[in-house]
Amino acid sequence: MSVSQQVFLRDAMRRLNLTRDVFAVRIGVKRRALDTWLLPEGSQEARNMPEVVSRFVTEIVENEALLEKYAQSAQSGPLRDRISYNGKHQLLSVDQFTRESVEELFRIADQMQPIARRQKVSRVLEGAVLGNLFFEASTRTRVSFGAAFCRLGGSVCDTTGFTFSSMAKGESIYDTSRVMSGYVDALVIRHPERGSVAEFADATNIPVINGGDGAGEHPSQALLDLYTILTEFSRLGKLLDGAHIAMVGDLKYGRTVHSLIKLLALYRDLKFTLVAPKGLEMPDYILEQAGKRGHVIEQTSSLEQGLVGADVVYATRVQKERFADEQLEGYTADFQVNKAIVDRCGRSDAIIMHPLPRDSREGAHDLGVDLNHDPRLAIFRQADNGIPVRMAIFAVLLGVEGLVQHSLRDVTWSPPSHIGPDDSVFHGID
Ligand code: NCD
Repeated sequence: MSVSQQVFLRDAMRRLNLTRDVFAVRIGVKRRALDTWLLPEGSQEARNMPEVVSRFVTEIVENEALLEKYAQSAQSGPLRDRISYNGKHQLLSVDQFTRESVEELFRIADQMQPIARRQKVSRVLEGAVLGNLFFEASTRTRVSFGAAFCRLGGSVCDTTGFTFSSMAKGESIYDTSRVMSGYVDALVIRHPERGSVAEFADATNIPVINGGDGAGEHPSQALLDLYTILTEFSRLGKLLDGAHIAMVGDLKYGRTVHSLIKLLALYRDLKFTLVAPKGLEMPDYILEQAGKRGHVIEQTSSLEQGLVGADVVYATRVQKERFADEQLEGYTADFQVNKAIVDRCGRSDAIIMHPLPRDSREGAHDLGVDLNHDPRLAIFRQADNGIPVRMAIFAVLLGVEGLVQHSLRDVTWSPPSHIGPDDSVFHGID
């Protein structure tokens, strides 16, 4: 402790706004003991407080400060204004978030869980229409955004690929975006060029969500990844501050890891181990941004080394579709996260994640299917979290998050208790 015990305790009582009596009760000690800790150093009756008390008091004070911050932010207007992009209710990058605003979004995602788990229904977005514009391959992002919108009572119009859109006739991003805005109330866009979704966003005032812009960002994926990490950690009794995160695979073109490392960097004292084959390392501009907050960032091409001590192992697919003329010489079977290596080098309480899809073809060296029965494999729980998190994003951007709680009704059908035959017992849907 850098300040004296007396100053520390006085300061804590002041910040918590508690009298000596009430403070003693709050920290579970006798008033007499507290009195002896508060005596000036050197006086005969002065005693040192136990280390555990000092840690407990620090924790209470820090918690209180956090709550205060939440209260302040709640007063400073709706979340959608605080995370806005160029003054608009749009989601282009994880850079729009602070730790407080991201956690506020997750409290809304928690409220969505009964709907995502098919216990309740809500119609807060009844009448609203979502336009899903996907100019690149997608299964889960497109469908889960659509399903999330529908589960809030809205409906969805889709267009997929360039071939079936007027962009194949030479239409500009500006024209496409402006025209679509006349038809729908929100747009989710995926496009192969970095920065292109921001161009769509500039051409409209309706909410636009970046569903992946080339090798740029994938903010909604990073949000559901962080939500998954926090949920899994709370089950395992771990805190994210101080955790060790390993990211494995194509860190150069993988937009999910670009967004995720920046979002994780909002937390404290993290250690990142980045395991990539030569030529597919994390870009410098991302490393610089994440490194600014004093986290430890190690880079290696040894998966074994990367797995040791990691609380989270985040594997990724090699984004071959983004390769110009790169050769994949260094990407050998040694990069595969599979049961043997996880059992040999990983922690018994690690969680293994992947944004999916994983390339399960022979010779792909992507995340192994032999982990499917291992409860450490969190990939399907992670994908399932796409629904509550994307519902929260829509509710916030369209300003209806305050209406959800009172809009809930029971479902009329009965879903199975576990949606996947291999789901871990702790991942039932009710
Ligand atoms: C990712 C993507 O499209 O960036 N998939 C996803 O959205 N869950 C990852 C990938 O394609 O490898």
